[in-house]
Amino acid sequence: MDMFVIEGGVPLSGTVAVSGAKNSALPLMAAALATEGKTVLRGVPRLVDVETLSLLLQTLGVQVRRDDHDALTLEVVDERPHVADYELVRRMRAGFCVLGPLLARRGRACVSIPGGCNIGNRPIELHLKGLRALGADISIERGYVIARAERLRGAHIDLRGPFGSTVTGTCNVMVAAALADGSTMIESAACEPEVVDLGNFLNAMGARITGLGTPILRIDGVRCLAAAQHTVIPDRIEAATIMIAAAITRSRVRLTGVRPAQMTNVLDKLRQIGVAIDVKTDAIDVCGNEPFRPVDCVALPYPGLPTDLQAQLTALLATVPGVSVVTDKIFPDRFMHAPELVRMGARIRREGNSAVIDGVDRLSGACVMACDLRASAALVLAGLAASGTTVVRRIYHLDRGYERLEAKLAQLGAKIIRTSDEPAHFPESLRLAEERAQPIRTFDAREPLSGPKWFQQLRSDTLKSRHDC
Ligand code: EPZ
Repeated sequence: MDMFVIEGGVPLSGTVAVSGAKNSALPLMAAALATEGKTVLRGVPRLVDVETLSLLLQTLGVQVRRDDHDALTLEVVDERPHVADYELVRRMRAGFCVLGPLLARRGRACVSIPGGCNIGNRPIELHLKGLRALGADISIERGYVIARAERLRGAHIDLRGPFGSTVTGTCNVMVAAALADGSTMIESAACEPEVVDLGNFLNAMGARITGLGTPILRIDGVRCLAAAQHTVIPDRIEAATIMIAAAITRSRVRLTGVRPAQMTNVLDKLRQIGVAIDVKTDAIDVCGNEPFRPVDCVALPYPGLPTDLQAQLTALLATVPGVSVVTDKIFPDRFMHAPELVRMGARIRREGNSAVIDGVDRLSGACVMACDLRASAALVLAGLAASGTTVVRRIYHLDRGYERLEAKLAQLGAKIIRTSDEPAHFPESLRLAEERAQPIRTFDAREPLSGPKWFQQLRSDTLKSRHDC
């Protein structure tokens, strides 16, 4: 298991390219099940979730090959398998996106219910409502959704849920409707750019979908879809995370390979805080030199502020004196990052689906525990701004959705290193006084000194302090 060691207070500078969107790549990969031949996806990020979905697709008769750049080739070689196993779906909720394509193309699917995660309840009833409306016979047995359909037929479906629409639910129903007999109207469809990206890909495969990016989709079913090539849209959540890294360290950074038009809500909110943002065609310049203001944020369905950015904004606002309130209307319990930020000196109080933040001038480095994908990113951002050293443990959560985040931040000058999570690598500065007295092996002098100079200095300081005490 790995951890990050971060030396905070280091300003960033330079340019960084943003990777392809995780939440677009995953449904696009699943949609390859709805066709035959070779699907080629470019700009697919190197993420644990992409690897996990590749494994799942291979169990479903799809050969998945990555070329030496960032393209994936997916070729359906066997259409008999139809069971998406719990062992893989439980690791990555997006595995549930195979349900619609499997049902539409193979007439049957047995997909494990994805289960919950640390951000809260993750129901699937809207997915099943949409597929049943298209004529599927669906039952739930022993933790699996078992779906059958001789031939799906078009229907009028409303995907509105108690917290708005459903992103992957819209993906599942949209793919299924693309291969149904007749026309389908989906009301209360999700409008996220990732759903639009999937719809554009399906249309390139021969589907007939209109209304993408609006809450009303019209889909005229076709007999079959042909394999196509497609480039994944940039990851707006990764881009915003790096922008907040620049803001929280009061730095100036340029991001390239972005689509500013998909980030209007985020850019507006960061400007409201006082971050200077200059938008180019496919680049964004961010400058955090001006004084910041406390603000209120509310996470809503697109085009509202993304819930996937709520934790990162909380970390930023924890360093802005004054009272800010961050509310999540999509995942009301998505605040596992708050107690870890409090360990770093943040002043945050939970009130229902909100975090009330009394910003401080400076966070202090600490040992903190990542608990979900975006909470991990928030802790890394806080570590970049904190005084002293921060260790973020269990960063396997982060690896699910960020491609080499530490390398991108280090490229901008951050003092961050990935190392194995073991006592020998724990910086002395994070130990309590009594721990220092223990004969704990911290950095073993015989170990070859590795890592950047700042990390070697941290180690030699530790070794020195061991001999001094
Ligand atoms: C997608 O999850 C994203 N994941 C999530 O990103 C993102 O947070 C979420 O959309 C909201 O934008 C992928 O795209 C792989 P939902 P999804 O169904 O589709 C309720 C990340 O960090 N709901 O849109 O699973 C649900 O409880 C991940 O990258 C129902 O009530 O989310 C939630 O409150 C985390 N019934 C709201 O809708 C249902 O049948 C939105 O959920 C389905 C959902």
